[in-house]
Amino acid sequence: MKETAIKVENLDAGYGGIPIMKNLNFEVQSGRIFVILGGSGCGKSTLLKHMIGLVPPISGRVLINGQDMVSAAGDKKNRLLRKIGVAFQNGALFGSMSVLENIMLPLKEYTRLPREAMETVARIKLDLVDLGHGAELMPDQLSGGMKKRAAIARAMALDPSILFLDEPSAGLDPLTSAGLDRLIMDLASNLKITFVIVTHELESILAIADQVIMLEKEAKGIIARGNPGVLKADPSNPYVYNFFNRHPPEAVHP
Ligand SMILES: Nc1ncnc2c1ncn2[C@@H]1O[C@H](COP(=O)(O)OP(=O)(O)O)[C@@H](O)[C@H]1O
Ligand SMILES: [Mg+2]
Repeated sequence: MKETAIKVENLDAGYGGIPIMKNLNFEVQSGRIFVILGGSGCGKSTLLKHMIGLVPPISGRVLINGQDMVSAAGDKKNRLLRKIGVAFQNGALFGSMSVLENIMLPLKEYTRLPREAMETVARIKLDLVDLGHGAELMPDQLSGGMKKRAAIARAMALDPSILFLDEPSAGLDPLTSAGLDRLIMDLASNLKITFVIVTHELESILAIADQVIMLEKEAKGIIARGNPGVLKADPSNPYVYNFFNRHPPEAVHP
């Protein structure tokens, strides 16, 4: 049975009452990999910030497992927040602490586990992202790919059911990026984690995404949605078709 993890309803998203996107409507299914794509500055990170409740909607709402994060308060809000994990674009680890200490931070903030238990949990998360060997390293000793894995481990510290990743493969070489894709697919299928990922990487999108939405700045909204393989094969919208088939925008008029 299909279960809805996130429902975005009539959302106007933006800052200070000025919308960057208008009237967004979409659903993210549980345990699936959902990708948000679109050109630079079109509002992908802004949409993520609304989905995690960091920025309140201008109008409309975002439901996480049927609950509205913005109107939730107190314990209810905390429970909702713990269902989601986030690795921000350029989200850095704290350079003054080891990788293990970084992963333990959310546990220190949100739980009262004894230190040894926090350490055990943090090590499990590092093992899950295949970074068990890096626990004692300092962030500046990690490669780009290892930093991304550590950020994902930290986002998973509190056992979220939904993970939001903003441009996780930016700046990675193709091989490292493919490794990250495999990790995301493994986590989705083994742990039934729902992923919402912002990325431009076409290879990555075609390899991992169940559903995509494509945002566009001028349209202030979604210009295409669906399975990426289906969109790639559908020439009815030249802009979308060209993106999925890697043609420069002006080159092909199918
Ligand atoms: N905190 C903010 N306050 C006001 N405007 C912002 C803020 N953050 C981003 N913006 C603007 O919102 C637009 C979309 O930005 P962003 O969501 O970061 O785009 P993307 O992630 O797609 O590159 C940009 O014009 C950006 O300047
Ligand atoms: Mg962004």
